[in-house]
Amino acid sequence: MERLIQPANKISGEITPPGDKSIWHRALLIGAIANGETEISGIPAGLDVESTKQCLIDLGVSITYSDGKTIVYGKGTNGLKKPDGLIDVGNSGTTVRLLSGVLAAQEFETVLDGDSSIRKRPMNRIVTPLSLMGARISSAPSGGCPLTIKGNPDLNSIKYDMPVASAQVKSAILLAGVCARVSVTLSEPHPSRDHTEIMLRECGATIEKDNGNLRLEPCSELRAAKFKIPDDFSSAAFFITAALLIDGSDLLIKNVGLNPTRIGFLNVVMDMGADIEIRNSKEESGEITGDIFVRHSNLKAVSITAETVPSIIDELPLIGILGAKAEGITKVSGAGELRVKESDRISLLVNGLRSVGVTADEFEDGFSVRGNQSIIGGEVDTGGDHRLAMTFAIAGLASKNGVTVRDAESSSVSYPSFFSELDKLSSN
Ligand code: S3P
Repeated sequence: MERLIQPANKISGEITPPGDKSIWHRALLIGAIANGETEISGIPAGLDVESTKQCLIDLGVSITYSDGKTIVYGKGTNGLKKPDGLIDVGNSGTTVRLLSGVLAAQEFETVLDGDSSIRKRPMNRIVTPLSLMGARISSAPSGGCPLTIKGNPDLNSIKYDMPVASAQVKSAILLAGVCARVSVTLSEPHPSRDHTEIMLRECGATIEKDNGNLRLEPCSELRAAKFKIPDDFSSAAFFITAALLIDGSDLLIKNVGLNPTRIGFLNVVMDMGADIEIRNSKEESGEITGDIFVRHSNLKAVSITAETVPSIIDELPLIGILGAKAEGITKVSGAGELRVKESDRISLLVNGLRSVGVTADEFEDGFSVRGNQSIIGGEVDTGGDHRLAMTFAIAGLASKNGVTVRDAESSSVSYPSFFSELDKLSSN
């Protein structure tokens, strides 16, 4: 579906983004392997999280919903049931990678597959460490899905230096370690999001950080916990960008997750000169939340390098739009991971920027954008990638003539109410 986004005069009011997608996936998965009933409250998060829920149901887990609470009836670390057919992860990389860690230590064989985007995503990054633990797991010849996992509850402990900073890979190995009751020692080139560690600790696991190494002690069982899901910072980032770019804008976004491993975007835009206040910041069960108040700001260019990338990975396309309106040349490097997301986000972002009249350059591991430019408008190929669809919708709001976004419906993967929020805010 194509959608034409007209320029907005200003963005004003309050939005409620969906619940944090990363935390939702983990709450469901950890709930499924805990003992007892896990209670989850928070705003639903879209199709990706629905994929995780359906996969768990297909693996014999009961999940109910009433009065704003989701209850997961845990099966324990080795209690999932062999599914009748293959497990369909849809478009969700987090589902396939984290679930593979759990399935590596079950008693049965499973085949995991998903849509055409998921089939292109690299799975060797989990196949290698899980195989080192003794899992019997194989990918398609291309290195992607379908994945076949012959479960083995007697996995070995592992000490592993991760070649890429990836919370999905880290979480897959930790979950395999938990289910097999063995120790795991990991190092990452740069710290990635740490929701899995926080949530496993809530359930009684011992995970420590020592000299940059993460260590999970053998864990005999997980106890069920209550998880309150904050609103998703990654979804909030779209409207933060709109408010920053459009004259006269001000916007309030309440109860947003502000975990330090996730807010690289906030730090970067504040370095660019963004007028942002954080209000009512608090910590609950290891996760920090707060309200974000943002006003239109004049921005200056920024350079983003590898050490910042994991904390801003999903928000980097927005830096392309912000860079076009900032003073100076904005450059992103050390971000080759963007090429293996739901689409090749470097190539599609740069082509999309050019389609709306913005001068940008593509590099193997990033991109650069010349500042002080008008976003003129045009039609953009978003490759069915939810984050690119929403990025170019925001570009439309800040454009001269409007932007037509192809495959706009992909926004439902992480933000089903995105276009209704956008219509509401831009007409205020
Ligand atoms: C995620 C980790 C990141 C991120 C993805 C969600 C997670 O992926 O891009 O949207 O929930 O663990 P990588 O682990 O591939 O960096």
